[in-house]
Amino acid sequence: MEEGKDSTVISRTSQSRVLPQRLLQLLVLFLVLCFVFSVISVYTIRRFGVTSFVPSLQPCIQEVNNLEHWIKPPLNLMHTMSDEELFWRASLTPRIKNYPFERIPKIAFMFLTKGPLPLAPLWERFFKGHEGLYSIYMHSSPSFQAEFPSSSVFYRRQIPSQVAEWGKMSMCDAERRLIANALLDISNEWFVLLSESCIPLYNFSTVYNYIKQSKYSFLGAFDDLGPHGRGRYSEKMLPEVNISQWRKGSQWFEINRNLALFIVEDTKYYPKFAEFCKPACYVDEHYFPTMLTVEAGKHLANRSITWVDWSRGGAHPGTFGRVDITEEFMKRIFVGHNCSYNDQQSSNCYLFARKFAPSALEPLFLLAPKYLGF
Ligand SMILES: *[C@@H]1O[C@H](CO)[C@@H](O)[C@H](O)[C@H]1NC(C)=O
Ligand SMILES: *[C@@H]1O[C@H](CO)[C@@H](O)[C@H](O)[C@H]1NC(C)=O
Ligand SMILES: *[C@@H]1O[C@H](CO)[C@@H](O)[C@H](O)[C@H]1NC(C)=O
Ligand SMILES: *[C@@H]1O[C@H](CO)[C@@H](O)[C@H](O)[C@H]1NC(C)=O
Repeated sequence: MEEGKDSTVISRTSQSRVLPQRLLQLLVLFLVLCFVFSVISVYTIRRFGVTSFVPSLQPCIQEVNNLEHWIKPPLNLMHTMSDEELFWRASLTPRIKNYPFERIPKIAFMFLTKGPLPLAPLWERFFKGHEGLYSIYMHSSPSFQAEFPSSSVFYRRQIPSQVAEWGKMSMCDAERRLIANALLDISNEWFVLLSESCIPLYNFSTVYNYIKQSKYSFLGAFDDLGPHGRGRYSEKMLPEVNISQWRKGSQWFEINRNLALFIVEDTKYYPKFAEFCKPACYVDEHYFPTMLTVEAGKHLANRSITWVDWSRGGAHPGTFGRVDITEEFMKRIFVGHNCSYNDQQSSNCYLFARKFAPSALEPLFLLAPKYLGF
């Protein structure tokens, strides 16, 4: 009896030891599963984005039965469309001019960069508090993967990109790709091309109103009679372009939605420029200015709104770094200009400026509140 008692005691204690062990094993298994699942979901979200992940799970539920579907901008800019598919999609445009919803026109800021955006902190401050009035797009070397925190205005604003070379058609292709992606958001009304070395010269409201209230689009286009202008024209461009229509201009433009559509849908001028404007004809200085002059010349201001300094001479404009950014320099950017704004003479001619080196960030950041107004 005593033995039996002992054995039941023993078996009970061993049972109660086995039970927590099983529980522990289950718990560990559960934790491992949790970990694996979270790793997979984090990876999926990183790789494909929440937005493409979620709708793909519910294609049957989400019918195309309301207007919202047509007017909300694509949240995930990474798509698998080829340029041909993208341009076709971007060229779809409503024929009824009044929108049956409240459309607040936005400015699309399109950054054409090689790699990173060293002046991003300055732009972040510029955009802060103006959500809903702008959208951002970035085209960089295809090998470059931007690492912006989710709080950044640049977070996941990279578009599918390809190599772009200065002075070659691949540069215009990159610009067209930016415009086409930006056209997919029906609220984008104005399209501004910028580079990683550009800075804004005024606060957001001033920039927005200047562009909104302008009758013309700011694209540099002039008839340069010299060897670097008409000298680059080829008669093989006929009959699409004759010599008196040939234009030259800086590639940093601001255009409205209508002109953006001309650029994206163009199949008339593109082949001629691709074939007959090769270095020393730098196609990015001639294609858009010439094509838009022929198609929509009266809508162009024929000047750029991006200030650049050619005073140092040479083939490339001056680049400004830390030591150059003084109060004197900031004043110099703003004074002594003379241009036409809505057919009136004006001294406010530039909204952006280039070229600034990464080392200019710190002094610019300090002087911005006083000189740039943000
Ligand atoms: C923007 O700058 C203008 C002057 O350039 C100023 O009048 C206006 O108050 C500023 N707006 C904001 C929101 O700071
Ligand atoms: C170029 O074409 C335009 C429009 O067709 C025409 O008005 C102009 O006279 C032409 N110029 C030359 C030099 O052929
Ligand atoms: C820009 O140039 C075109 C022709 O090249 C002209 O028709 C147009 O009026 C000019 N724009 C302005 C604002 O003067
Ligand atoms: C600006 O340019 C216009 C036309 O070229 C000229 O009439 C005017 O005197 C100039 N104004 C200044 C302040 O230089």
